[in-house]
Order: sequence, then C-alpha cells, then structure tokens
Amino acid sequence: MVEGERPVPWFLGDIYENLRTYYICPFLFVCKFAKSRSLIYNIDIIFRKYMKKIIFSGIQPSGDMHIGHYLGAISQWVSLQKDYNCIFSVVDYHAITVKQDPSELRQRIVNTAKIYLASGIDPTKSIIFQQSAVNEHVELAWIFNCYGAYMSDLQKMTQFKDKAGDQEAVSVGLFDYPVLMAADILLYDTEIVPVGEDQKQHIELARDIARRFNSRFGNAFVVPQAVVRKEGARVMSLLDPIKKMSKSDKNQNNCIALLDDVEVAKKKIMRAVTDSGSDVVYDTTDKPAISNLLTIYALLGGRQIKRLEKDYAGRGYGDFKRDLADVVGKFLEDFQSKYNRISDQEVINILAEGQSKAKALASKKMDKVRQMIGVR
Ligand code: TYM
Repeated sequence: MVEGERPVPWFLGDIYENLRTYYICPFLFVCKFAKSRSLIYNIDIIFRKYMKKIIFSGIQPSGDMHIGHYLGAISQWVSLQKDYNCIFSVVDYHAITVKQDPSELRQRIVNTAKIYLASGIDPTKSIIFQQSAVNEHVELAWIFNCYGAYMSDLQKMTQFKDKAGDQEAVSVGLFDYPVLMAADILLYDTEIVPVGEDQKQHIELARDIARRFNSRFGNAFVVPQAVVRKEGARVMSLLDPIKKMSKSDKNQNNCIALLDDVEVAKKKIMRAVTDSGSDVVYDTTDKPAISNLLTIYALLGGRQIKRLEKDYAGRGYGDFKRDLADVVGKFLEDFQSKYNRISDQEVINILAEGQSKAKALASKKMDKVRQMIGVR
C-alpha cells in the first residue's frame, strides 16, 4: 500500500466498478442534459473512492536495464499490484526520442517486458503492454500539445536539458517527450505513478496539463500523484556518487545491469568508488558513495541500513564491499534464472493480451476527449 493510503472495502469497489462500466459510463456518454451529466459526474467522483485506484508506470526499452530501474521503479510496482489496478507499459515511443536500431529495438521491447515478468509483475493481476500498440497515446499527446502543454514548461525540464546538452540537432520528440508521458498517465484515469525521483518533474507537468484541460473543457482527467520510495528513489553511479546510475553513461562500470554476468557485476562492486575514511556509515553529504552502496545492500539484501552500520562497525570498506558483491551476485542469479525461463513467445502473448485490455480503456477515454474538444 502507498504510505498514507487507507484500505477500502473492495466488495463495494467491485460492485461500483461493474455499475460504472455497464450503466454509468454509457449513460454519461449518451446523456445530452448538462445538469444530469454533472450530477452523475459528481456522484461518480464520490463513489470512485471505493474502487481500486489505478496505477500507471513504464520504462523505455533503450539500453540495458539496471538495478536503478529495479529499485527505483519495478520493485515498487510489484508490491503495489495487490492493492491497486496496475498498468505497466513498455514505452517504446519514448525510446525513439533518441536513435534506435530497429531490430535491436524490437528485441529490447520483448526483453523489457520479460524483465517486468521476471521481477514479479503478474499479468493476471496487472496489464502489461507496449505503448505503440495503443495509438491513443500519441493522439492524446497531440491534443495536449495544443491544449495544456506550453513551450515554457518543456524548456524547464531538467532531463531534456541534460539529454540535449549542447548538441545541435535535437529532435522535437526529445523536447516533447514529457507531453507523451502525460498522455500515457492521464489516458487511464491514473491516480498513482510510482517512479524514481528523476521523473517527478514530468509528473508535475502531467498534473498541470490535467488541471488546465479540465478547467477549459470540464472534468476529463484525474490529477495524478507521483510516488517515490524513501530509499532507492535515486540509485547513484558506482563511479561517481553525485550522478544518477544511468544506462546512457559511456562507462558501463557505473551501473549493474540486471542481465550483467554475475562475476562481472561483482567486480563492478569491488571497483566502486568509496569515500575518505573507513567507517561504513550512512551520510549522504559526507559519504555519498558508501551511502549509495548501503542503500543497494539494504534493498537487495533485505536488511535495515542501521543494522548494516552496526554489523560493519570497525570492519572497513573491504569486508563491506565483498559482502555486498555477494548480495548483488545472489540477487542477479535468482533474477536471471527467472528471466531465462520465460520465452519470447510467452512475452509476445502477454503483450497482445495487455494491448487489448489497455486499448479498451484508452479508446473509451479518447471518445470522450474527442467529443469534448469538438472534433466529434
Ligand atoms: P526511464 O525509462 O528512464 O526509467 C524507468 C524508471 O526507472 C527509474 N530509474 C531510476 N530510479 C532510481 N535510480 C535510478 N538510477 C534510476 N534510473 C531510472 C525512473 O525514475 C523511472 O521510474 N519517462 C520515463 C518513462 C515513462 C513513464 C511514463 C513513467 C514514460 N511514460 C508514464 C511513468 C509514467 C522514463 O524515461 O523512465
């Protein structure tokens, strides 16, 4: 459960969900009387509290996925599946904001979904689908380009500034990417978006877009909320603890990829930079490197940071890193044995099933949006 959320009686939610699907939504769609529509809409807002909330999140199928993705995003998703209606997308149209080789991209899409499954995302509980297979995402992004998103918003996005750097030929897609992300989220009436810290600014923009659209056309979109975990929301580079662990870093020793060879991964941990001194203490200001390693150890090894500090008191960095390398190695072995048991065909079938579920939700929403803006 997300911190601060109250559990709700699900049987009420299930009853209302059926009523909503079969009676209330079709009624809202055909009803021509503004007063009745607004009354039913307000009643719906009250009763929606009893339905399971919707969660949406996604990962780009570009580069090798690493433990930052796992700890910041996917491991959170796994634990939320039981209490929420979850939708997890392989956001391939985000990946093409930078150049991709077509055949590599095709395989990465399958591999990314396989990573979701190997991590514990259960396709019988959650929808797993490929973003480009539901074209409503790009359609809604276009509408938000016209209604809701401003150039000045996008110019402020730190991720755009970092990625564009001082390149001359920066694609419009890279600039516009947060608008597509807003469309991904808002299309499904998402209330909660579990992500790593670097995505918070994009979700703020999605919230602004929802509010602006709603105030112009009436209530169409739920205003979502980002959820980041307390620890692991920003896993840092093993070589430079001031920088985020990233798949686009030229030196791959900065990160532990989920599909890294186990021995290679262990060596990366042993080579990870440490701070001055020799105490294993969590202090992000004075000991950013050790604090990052402690976070990784705590989350992958299932131990409290305080406990680790006690266990390694007076033992120095060497012992600590050796044990952490074993924890990482064990995690990767388990993860990869699950990953290797899943066939590409299984993934393709799951994505196809996810596509039809996501498509049904998205097309209903887009019918409403098209009517609201006057193109239908
Ligand atoms: P992407 O593909 O860069 O990263 C996917 C998720 O992993 C998290 N993450 C990290 N968390 C902690 N430490 C790190 N070092 C680290 N690196 C990555 C990210 O915060 C993210 O949660 N635009 C998004 C994908 C996206 C999306 C969406 C997400 C598209 N549409 C809708 C949520 C909802 C992105 O590029 O994430």
